[in-house]
Amino acid sequence: MNIVIALAYLVAAVLFILGLKQLSSPKGARNGNFTAAAGMVIALVATIPLLHFTRTGVIIVAIGVGIGTVVGVFGARMVRMTAIPQMVALFNGVGGGAAALVAVAELLRFGNHPAFSEAFPSVFSIVIGSVSFAGSMVAFAKLQELVTGTPITYPGQQVVNGLLAAAIVGFAIAVLAIASIPFSFVSLMVLALILGVAFVLPIGGADMPVVISLLNACTGLAVAASGFTLNNFALIVAGTLVGASGSLLTKLMSDAMGRSLANVLFGAFGQVQKAATAAAGGVARSVRSASAEDLGTLLAYSQRVIIVPGYGLAVAQAQHAARELADVLEKRGVDVEYAIHPVAGRMPGHMNVLLAEANVPYEQLKEMDQVNDDFKNADVALIVGANDVVNPAARSTPGSPIYGMPILNADQAKNVIFMKRSMRPGFAGIDNELMYGPHTVMFFGDAKDSLTKLVAAVKAA
Ligand code: TAP
Repeated sequence: MNIVIALAYLVAAVLFILGLKQLSSPKGARNGNFTAAAGMVIALVATIPLLHFTRTGVIIVAIGVGIGTVVGVFGARMVRMTAIPQMVALFNGVGGGAAALVAVAELLRFGNHPAFSEAFPSVFSIVIGSVSFAGSMVAFAKLQELVTGTPITYPGQQVVNGLLAAAIVGFAIAVLAIASIPFSFVSLMVLALILGVAFVLPIGGADMPVVISLLNACTGLAVAASGFTLNNFALIVAGTLVGASGSLLTKLMSDAMGRSLANVLFGAFGQVQKAATAAAGGVARSVRSASAEDLGTLLAYSQRVIIVPGYGLAVAQAQHAARELADVLEKRGVDVEYAIHPVAGRMPGHMNVLLAEANVPYEQLKEMDQVNDDFKNADVALIVGANDVVNPAARSTPGSPIYGMPILNADQAKNVIFMKRSMRPGFAGIDNELMYGPHTVMFFGDAKDSLTKLVAAVKAA
């Protein structure tokens, strides 16, 4: 490889790593994206001299780049924040599919008797890329509610999936050893696509972000394998980084939900949700609620308020209203901070992204470990569209689907204002005892409207 191209790839790899590093804090996340994107542009430009284009090849690549750019730009600009997980699933899926197709093209190019070192990465890429493509499409369909979000299960499902996986290994060996390529790799691809669908169908919609993160790691590995096939250093580095960071993110998300990865993948979480909802249903209990004026007075005369944002904040797009309330309170000398639970919302960093959009100062965003001891000194925990992440059942109810999940200690605050539209449960589908707590007041309504009312009430207090 030309030394200039090699150096460009090295620079690209360094930028990928720096970009990832910056992504680890909300402050650097935006620049991290730009840094990694700059690395990708350098890698792409550096690759062009390596290509031996025919005229048709140039046209095909230009069409591909055009379609990809239009879909990428429009997709990213049009998508609602709450729909980002399914967009990630879609983009991740096509990445896996692309890696698999590149591997197929390479296998065809190698002919009927490829060397093991050439065939192995291609076979690996076909299998993992196809599983990732099909699995991601099912994840997308579940999150977009094109198919039901509840687990689709049947007796003996894990055995069937195990047999599918065994058949794939068999065909992979056939491709590598017997090398009757056209038949074997098509079968291999079809089986891997079926496994991708079969693997994700029994997993509930609530667990899709974890599954997507895992499939993202798979796509990274498939791309890295393509890098070996194509002898391309930039692909190997980029794919490995995606594989490693995706695996870590998967582990962190499972940990933050207090569950093992095996439980997420094979535990049919949605069934537990249904059972828990059924158990909680039917018992009418009363809660206390209050007017915006009363709550405005309580907030205005507090010394310390901790805002707990959750998925409802994203649904209501209430981040600007939350910031406005915090500003009004701070002007009155109230100390305000935001308690960020690692799985609040529906994707990693969901609350950070929303609050950054409203220019909330980073110093006010406190991660769970930083803020949990502060609740007992807080006059008010203001829960804005959060539910599961403050549900004490995670501590006290063995058998609950969220039992063991670390939660925010909102129940330890002197007063709790619980803002939501109804008594409906959160994502885990279970009742929340905190709503009935002696220090809790419910404030029903859309989070944005409710916060706007509270701003007016605090100003008037
Ligand atoms: P949830 O437990 O899902 O609760 C959200 C609450 O917001 C609901 O109780 C809902 O009640 C309320 N809400 C919805 N729209 C609203 C609106 N317009 N205005 C006011 N309130 C509204 O949210 P959470 O506490 O953020 O917990 C996240 C859940 O998602 C956890 O179970 C977590 O494990 C799961 N999860 C998260 C992730 C990531 S990575 N973040 C990944 C997978 C799963 P009403 O309908 O009554 O308004």
